[in-house]
Amino acid sequence: MTKQWWKESVVYQIYPRSFNDSNGDGIGDIPGIIEKLDYLAELGIDVIWLSPVYDSPNDDNGYDIRDYQAIMDEFGTMEDFDQLLNEAHQRNLKIVMDLVVNHTSDEHAWFVESKSSKDNPKRDYYIWKEGKNGQPPTNWESAFSGSTWQYDEATEEYFLHIFSKKQPDLNWENQNVRKDVYDMMKWWLDKGIDGFRMDVINFISKDPEYPDGVVHEGKKYGDGSPYFMNGPRVHDYLHEMNREVLSNYDVMTVGEMPGVTPEEGKLYTAERRKELQMVFHFEHMDVDGGELGKWSLNGWKLADLKRILSKWQYELEEEGWNSLYWNNHDQPRVVSRFGNDKAYRKKSAKMLGTCLHMMKGTPYIYQGEELGMTNVAFETIDRYEDLESLNMYEERVNDFGDSIEEVMERIHHKGRDNARTPMQWSAEENGGFTTGTPWLGVNPNYKSINAEEALADPDSVFHYYQKLIQLRKSKETVVYGRFDLLLEDSEEVFAYTRTYGNEVLLVLCNFTGDEQEVHLGDIHQEGGEVILTNREGTIKDPSSLARMTLEPYEATVFSLRKNGGQESSTPVLPFT
Ligand code: NOJ
Repeated sequence: MTKQWWKESVVYQIYPRSFNDSNGDGIGDIPGIIEKLDYLAELGIDVIWLSPVYDSPNDDNGYDIRDYQAIMDEFGTMEDFDQLLNEAHQRNLKIVMDLVVNHTSDEHAWFVESKSSKDNPKRDYYIWKEGKNGQPPTNWESAFSGSTWQYDEATEEYFLHIFSKKQPDLNWENQNVRKDVYDMMKWWLDKGIDGFRMDVINFISKDPEYPDGVVHEGKKYGDGSPYFMNGPRVHDYLHEMNREVLSNYDVMTVGEMPGVTPEEGKLYTAERRKELQMVFHFEHMDVDGGELGKWSLNGWKLADLKRILSKWQYELEEEGWNSLYWNNHDQPRVVSRFGNDKAYRKKSAKMLGTCLHMMKGTPYIYQGEELGMTNVAFETIDRYEDLESLNMYEERVNDFGDSIEEVMERIHHKGRDNARTPMQWSAEENGGFTTGTPWLGVNPNYKSINAEEALADPDSVFHYYQKLIQLRKSKETVVYGRFDLLLEDSEEVFAYTRTYGNEVLLVLCNFTGDEQEVHLGDIHQEGGEVILTNREGTIKDPSSLARMTLEPYEATVFSLRKNGGQESSTPVLPFT
């Protein structure tokens, strides 16, 4: 296991549209980000991941790119971007860009040409197929509802779009596509950016047979995912990308990969294979899904969450590297999902942060997570902007006859706009995000939950996150220590150790609003010391851990010495 700067870093994701508006048009922008660099430096993060800032018609808020080498007008200019990069670097902050190359916008010049005729040289840049008996080439369902195929009247063929019909999939089989993508990546890297987060990058190789997918109960379309996720040539493509581009720069890479298993994850991230450094898997995000995918509200069990996360920890222990996240621009807010956003908002937000950041891997913070920002529940669908939610609403209400109440409840729990409401900077109007009308409503709780309040409160989630980040910087055990899960079957407590040299970190997290008694066996460790806690009461004797009562949503991290200070490879604590 090599030591690398990106293993020791903490990443902060910015969703530019919702971060900070500098010119009063209601939309966040790059000068707005520059204004907040000092805030990010104060938090202590190392890397900023910038969601797309490229020119886009915004069908999917920038994940539909019209020009990879231009900045979206609403966000500013290329000069603004250069200034951002420069000012970030001056503060020792790196910038990682979103690379969205499974698809482009249908307004990208390549697609405009591709669509213009069957013999255009760019025709084969996208995936065009004839229909079958007047039907689309396969029965696959788009990630945003409806078919993955769109018929083009002029050339009488269908093109593939796994996402919206304004996001046609690129044809990676075509080596000119790959070359153009690599050239574009080099252009950004030569500008000095510090890496890429790669959007649905495990979708780029499709099964050349294009078989129909299974139609699950309650569905109209088939599940095409086995034929486009982790497809037959994906490792070849990523290996080629690494050889042609990435290996020439000291940069960070993380691939977003729905449907990736730990076994596959290891193949993508093992250093000897020279593909990527990390993947974002979705298994823990699917823990509360069901027959309607993410839209099912089936609840979740802590034992399942622990099983999933620890499986990834064990599987990538020797080879590969984990990314650690609870939140991003596609997920509901974690404090509302796995914590308690009412009576224990701050405390459970700190607990969740501890639980995640103390695992092995590179942690990602999504804007506002460091404030304990919560989900939002707008009453009516017209207050929402996200096309995934809007399409689901339309399909379930109109085609399936689901009640509006039921569908709104799903959106309140799982909709992507939960993450996209504007960042809450202060108690001023619109949370200080804009002086204009925000493109998406601000969560009404901004008067009490905002950065100004958090900075003034020594006990805030923000200051706790600062400590979490500092702990990573001061202890190699946090970065490189081996992970061992404890109390595997507990439905209340997530407990684990991290072991490195003589040091053992013991992490205890209570995921409930009740006190929990934890039985840690008959142990007495030398030098037991609390190094981080969100506890309100004091711990009488931190060196005696045989039996401990955790407060509701408590998280405590102990630093212990192995018995006799001897190094050993077996887990040191006989916990049950
Ligand atoms: C994953 C991105 O995170 C999401 O926001 C986007 O809609 C899809 N990929 C399509 O690009």
